Amino acid sequence: MTFRTRFTELCGIEHPIVQGGMMWVGRAELAAAVSNAGGLGILTALTQPTPDDLRREIERCRTMTDKPFGVNLTILPSVTPPPYAEYRRAIIDSGVKIVETAGHKPQEHVDDFKANGVIVLHKCTAVRHALSAERMGVDVISIDGFECAGHPGEDDIPGLILIPATADKVKIPIIASGGFGDGRGLVAALALGAQGINMGTRFCATQEAPIHDNVKQFIVQNDERATNLIFRKFKNTGRVSKNSVSDKVVGITNQPDSVFEDIRPYVSGAQGRVALETGDLDAGLIWAGQVQGIIDNVPSCADLIGRIISEAEAIITQRLAGFVTH
Ligand SMILES: Cc1cc2nc3c(=O)[nH]c(=O)nc-3n(C[C@H](O)[C@H](O)[C@H](O)COP(=O)(O)O)c2cc1C
Repeated sequence: MTFRTRFTELCGIEHPIVQGGMMWVGRAELAAAVSNAGGLGILTALTQPTPDDLRREIERCRTMTDKPFGVNLTILPSVTPPPYAEYRRAIIDSGVKIVETAGHKPQEHVDDFKANGVIVLHKCTAVRHALSAERMGVDVISIDGFECAGHPGEDDIPGLILIPATADKVKIPIIASGGFGDGRGLVAALALGAQGINMGTRFCATQEAPIHDNVKQFIVQNDERATNLIFRKFKNTGRVSKNSVSDKVVGITNQPDSVFEDIRPYVSGAQGRVALETGDLDAGLIWAGQVQGIIDNVPSCADLIGRIISEAEAIITQRLAGFVTH
């Protein structure tokens, strides 16, 4: 069975389940596996060192799936920003028809993607940002609650409020992100007004995720309390898994006169990449969300998505239907 929603219709996919962009994790192996399973797999543009590498990764993904997949373009404030416009060009030239944007001021990118017939999902963490993205012309809002891995924003509004608050305000389809990992979550998201779900951490703990098995087992063993919020003081809050590195970053940041330079040696993306690739769990930051508390196995993407859909169907047709009396 499938769940047909405005989102699945728009993107031409079977199941309303998206694998969000993930630095170092969103490579062809994972994106293709998710798309082959009927979801929407997403490559992460900046995981590729250059726009030409991204072109090659898109081609590689095409050899692994003939289903729709997307590319994430994350726009972060930076002193020396990556060549965003060239990455955007690589996406458009490669004929990719679905993009997930995230981060600051996406207008210029949204304009170009829309002029080239690309469907834009914009991921954000506040109703006001969702409204401004809708005005900008994006097609779908991916609304990321406080539970999420990555950057939950500074408002601390969990999905239980943020999803319906967004659904009440925007007219375009929304997908719910942050804290989703099973069929219960999918049903809850649909009930709250979303047209599908986006998952990050849950897809890290799958067979096809191109990261070390130690990290997958770490996610499985962690409970819902095993995250740290970092960078709050710098108004760029990030949720990562609790390990010796993120504990240290929290400890340093809690000192009243600390500055970003004090934590810089611990937080580089390169060190996080070492942790993911070598399985050394104390090599750097490992980004993961509170949903770790409900992840207890490492299935294939096909098994995971199949299970979510059948569980959601059973909840709606049996458990919930059983509550209704006439
Ligand atoms: C390892 C990892 C890396 C991530 N990197 C990015 C990124 O580069 N850009 C982005 O927009 N979101 C990134 N995210 C956030 C996810 O796309 C997604 O929004 C988030 O994981 C949803 O919350 P969940 O983990 O509870 O499912 C990352 C998440 C994880 C777990």
